[in-house]
Amino acid sequence: MTHDPADLSGLTLAEKASLSSGADFWTTKAVGDVPSLVLTDGPHGVRRQAGATDHLGLAESLPATCFPPAVGLSQSWDPDLVGRVGAALGAEAGALGVDVLLGPGINIKRDPRGGRNFEYFSEDPLLTGVLGGAWVSGLQSTGVGASLKHFAANNAEHDRMRSSSNVDPRTLREIYLRAFQRVVRTSAPWTVMCSYNRINGVYASEDHWLLTTVLRQEWGFDGVVVSDWGAVQDRPAAVAAGLDLEMPGDGGASDARLLAAVEAGACSTEDVDTAASRVAALAARARGSRRDRAADPERAPEVGAREIEDHHALAREVAARCVVLLKNDGALLPLAPDGSVAVIGGFARNPRYQGGGSSHVNPTRVDVPLEEIRALAGSGAVAFAPGYADRAQDGTEPGDAAALREEAVRAASEADTAVVFLGLAEHQESEGFDREHIELPAEQLDLLAAVVRAQPRTVVVLSHGGVLRLAPVAELAPAVLDGALLGQAGGGAIADVLFGRVNPSGRLGETVPVRLQDTPAYLNFPGENSAVLYGEGLYVGYRWYDARDMEVAFPFGHGLSYTSFAYSDLELEQDGAGITAHLTVTNTGDRSGREVVQFYVAKPDSAVSRAPRELKGFTGVTLEPGRSERVSVPLSREDLAYWEVRADRWVVEGGEYVVSAGASSRDLRVTAAIAVEGDALRLPVTLDSTLGEVMADPGAAALLAQAFTPPAAEGSDNAMGMDMARMMASIPIRRLASFGPTGLDELEALVARINAED
Ligand code: BGC
Repeated sequence: MTHDPADLSGLTLAEKASLSSGADFWTTKAVGDVPSLVLTDGPHGVRRQAGATDHLGLAESLPATCFPPAVGLSQSWDPDLVGRVGAALGAEAGALGVDVLLGPGINIKRDPRGGRNFEYFSEDPLLTGVLGGAWVSGLQSTGVGASLKHFAANNAEHDRMRSSSNVDPRTLREIYLRAFQRVVRTSAPWTVMCSYNRINGVYASEDHWLLTTVLRQEWGFDGVVVSDWGAVQDRPAAVAAGLDLEMPGDGGASDARLLAAVEAGACSTEDVDTAASRVAALAARARGSRRDRAADPERAPEVGAREIEDHHALAREVAARCVVLLKNDGALLPLAPDGSVAVIGGFARNPRYQGGGSSHVNPTRVDVPLEEIRALAGSGAVAFAPGYADRAQDGTEPGDAAALREEAVRAASEADTAVVFLGLAEHQESEGFDREHIELPAEQLDLLAAVVRAQPRTVVVLSHGGVLRLAPVAELAPAVLDGALLGQAGGGAIADVLFGRVNPSGRLGETVPVRLQDTPAYLNFPGENSAVLYGEGLYVGYRWYDARDMEVAFPFGHGLSYTSFAYSDLELEQDGAGITAHLTVTNTGDRSGREVVQFYVAKPDSAVSRAPRELKGFTGVTLEPGRSERVSVPLSREDLAYWEVRADRWVVEGGEYVVSAGASSRDLRVTAAIAVEGDALRLPVTLDSTLGEVMADPGAAALLAQAFTPPAAEGSDNAMGMDMARMMASIPIRRLASFGPTGLDELEALVARINAED
């Protein structure tokens, strides 16, 4: 008879305590009937270390497909595609014996300098949540669990193991927790990874409100909360807060501390039991998946040559969909196959395609852009010049910059078109530190200026993990392709887009500011004395630039195509689930293409502070030239809600909502309005409620009128040169006692009567 591994009744307390911490860097312990689990990074490829692991888990890993990191993947704005990546990752993880892949990272990109921005999707919670959810569902469809990370408000690398992210409750809910909430609810990740940092002074690993009240009780999470590696400061406090699994293992010292705390009454046996049973349930689930996989004749038992080929092809398809055409003056792109091309820049030969740190994947192979361009170029010659020293990428010392530039200028002037690869090297942006600026190396800009002078038909291709100041590039070059980071098949994908085998449809997941000084957290990043104030509040990314009506270099959601699209006939419908937007999209150009249609919602006259518009829905539509399609996109009621701090819950404000559809946050083509019924929000009246607040509720206003006659005499407005009604509105009702015959007792009775009213 087999035992239910989640039945822990036969285990001692010490055995249970030991279940909720790791055995070593990547595995949990096998205890009684509970099998061991393998967890490993993630997210954009499987980083499975062979043999013994070193204590930091940094040793070389087995080859695996390196898909575009989240910064690139998000530019697809395509949950189906992201779901396919998740499923491919799951297939590789399963074949490599991995039960939980440590991803996706879904923190919001608060500041462009954030060192791990390349591992995150966007500055917007809806885009992040939709794509993160698709990633989790795709992965978990293969029986491999996800680990949604880093929970929460982990938006910088500076002092990451101590720093407190000090953020107000509304901002926390609407910006920093919202994507987590969506993914937990839509995709039920097997695990959630708590972050290193503190939130308003409390370590995430010890935050009962975060790990239990919000995550489990409000959102219904039923999986395992695992610590980020080394994020546990005080294990008993963490277990009591709702942390189930401490990683990595420390050889038993932490388990002993937990047991001592139970003995001392500082932590309950129930808490230890709960954590152990959740880890056991996860292990049982993983064991079930392993069995299913082994019994499935369709499943490859290992990552064989065919899977490697197929996944590389998928990585190329995905990467091409992630390329953003930022600029294309004079329809310079796509390139004619018979024209000659001068390919310039070290990144064309030695591509930059992922970031440094724990997410670093050992790729199965790497497409070299220069070779891929040669493979797709027709009769036209393809020349190459390095243009700048490869110092940026491989650490070698610069050669003679002037000579390299001269050689590149010569090659550019002799060709029909120049394609210049620019960007940042891996060592310039990686986990563990933030960037100090958002500049491209000056030598690259000098090179570009010189090339453009000699060859006006110049295309720039960008590789980077974090946002760059692009104004100087856009001023010089007539065409710019932004690849961000595209994974191992990025080289082929760029060639596909350059020659028009793929019509670009990628969109920015992040605003490109004119200058770093314009960015929302500029004065509050990275903080000091182990604390960072989220002083910009809700106004992150485009919410900030729009609210301040600022110019940006390239707006959130921007991306061009080799064809063009028209938008018409926006119609809105409302029901209990929210608004449905219907819209006709027409391909008005002469090529087949995919358009990402974005829906932004505004709430004019809102009673609360709001961004001028927020992304509430999007969809992709692929159309042949001349063809139209009517798309319908739900803008869910849940997403229309704001966090009402006074009631501590989500509230949909009633009244008119304005919905605009467009090709970017600053290219809104059609607009319509609809009335939405609001949620009932009746806040209890107190003596500190103002007259204005009380008067806003007709029932309360009537009761107030019975008890109190305002002193305003006829014509007093004029006599005192003031708006008496407005002045009165701001008076807390408690103060009425100071102004007139109504005493405090009477006011208290009035408040009780008002609150008793329905
Ligand atoms: C990172 C996590 C990662 C873990 C295991 C930590 O330093 O923050 O994202 O999953 O290490 O490598």
